Amino acid sequence: MKVSVFGLGYVGCVSAACLAGRGHEVVGVDVNQVKVDLVNDGKAPVVEEGIGELVADVVGSGALRATTDVREAIANSEVSLICVGTPSEPNGSLCTTYLERVTEEIGTALAERGGRHTVVFRSTMLPGTCLNLLVPILEKAVGGTAGVDVGVAVNPEFLREGTSVRDFFDPPKTVIGQLDVASGDVVAELYEGLPGEVFRVPVPVAEAIKYADNAFHGLKIGFANELGAVCQALGVDSHQVIDVFLADRKLNISPAYLRPGFAFGGSCLPKDLRSLVHAAQRADISVPILSHVLPSNADHLQRAVELVERTGKRKVGLFGLSFKPGTDDLRESPLVELAERLFGKGYDLKIHDANVSLSRLLGANREYIETRLPHLAQLLADSVDEVLEHADVCLVGTKDPAVLAALPHGDGPVIVDLVRLPDAEARRAEPGYMGLAW
Ligand SMILES: NC(=O)c1ccc[n+]([C@@H]2O[C@H](COP(=O)([O-])OP(=O)(O)OC[C@H]3O[C@@H](n4cnc5c(N)ncnc54)[C@H](O)[C@@H]3O)[C@@H](O)[C@H]2O)c1
Repeated sequence: MKVSVFGLGYVGCVSAACLAGRGHEVVGVDVNQVKVDLVNDGKAPVVEEGIGELVADVVGSGALRATTDVREAIANSEVSLICVGTPSEPNGSLCTTYLERVTEEIGTALAERGGRHTVVFRSTMLPGTCLNLLVPILEKAVGGTAGVDVGVAVNPEFLREGTSVRDFFDPPKTVIGQLDVASGDVVAELYEGLPGEVFRVPVPVAEAIKYADNAFHGLKIGFANELGAVCQALGVDSHQVIDVFLADRKLNISPAYLRPGFAFGGSCLPKDLRSLVHAAQRADISVPILSHVLPSNADHLQRAVELVERTGKRKVGLFGLSFKPGTDDLRESPLVELAERLFGKGYDLKIHDANVSLSRLLGANREYIETRLPHLAQLLADSVDEVLEHADVCLVGTKDPAVLAALPHGDGPVIVDLVRLPDAEARRAEPGYMGLAW
């Protein structure tokens, strides 16, 4: 394919050279004449393993050249990859100035050129930037409609500085956020034959994935380092701990616990987090990530309360009470905490949990419920229907099949989904459905 690459920084230079290496005819565009001259001399404007040899090769063979002339590049290409910088503003917000400028320049050049061209954004940008900010700029400059007259896609890259050439040829995945199928097809063709799964998703999903990835990577590093510091202070070899931790592919390095859902609770996680953070504090070790896990969890629970408040309704039903499906353990159940907050705010509450009946509450649980939620007995309903008849808004905190089968669609009570119901995707389009974090 004939490709223009805008921005010859780390991402643009590596993308341009690697695409040229895969047989595409590539022109790199940058406002910086020095970078353009370097490329045309067969030299890489960035230092990266393997990039020097690759640029020399592909410039020598004529597969890659560079220019500062946007019109000339656009006139001679069918697809543009935008790799300009998106730095932080002093207040932390994303600077989109370079993106806006280059989008307008490309649009103006396309208006003169005519014919279909696909604009592919590689730069990291917050969800909504492409459709709400850049597409209108492009459409105005082109004088046409995105998805019809000009293709648009978002294609974040997952190159790590230092190994980006290798990463290009062996990516962890390829993400194509497509405005329309034809735009997505163009991007897919660019990378055809590369390993890794290809995900074709809506544009804002592609934008968000990059943030999910980078936030998680930062979180992983921070977690490991805090854990290391605590272990060190306690005289434990953190690397031995993490070796065993990493070997657990069922619960640790796995999809477990990584889907948005309700707050956690139970008799272990809150207690153990509290004592670990306490031990760190006693050793004068600052652990901001670990010490904010419980506050984060409490804020998430509060989101459920706020959803109920937003409905303006007072008669509330709650399905589920124990901390986990299939148990009657109520100790530190987040649903008990939720019930308590709603009760405290004067909501007219009815609760059903098939696993919880007062007669089955023994020992620790009985004591727990008596101190934490003494009014539970009056609030418990024996059947799903009793709750449905009572409630104007239903909080669903369980995937109990009897509850799922009884939940109405459409006209019934407002459904506040805490568990991502199996039919959540269809329900999301219905009025009267609220997902907790989706
Ligand atoms: N560096 C990385 O490893 C990395 C990894 C993942 C994602 N990203 C993202 O990729 C994007 C680019 O990052 P980078 O590190 O390559 O940036 P960079 O700052 O190294 O390079 C950006 C280049 O764009 C050029 N440019 C600016 N405006 C232009 C215009 N109107 N026309 C043509 N060229 C223009 C600049 O002169 C510069 O050479 C950012 O959104 C960044 O967040 C970077």
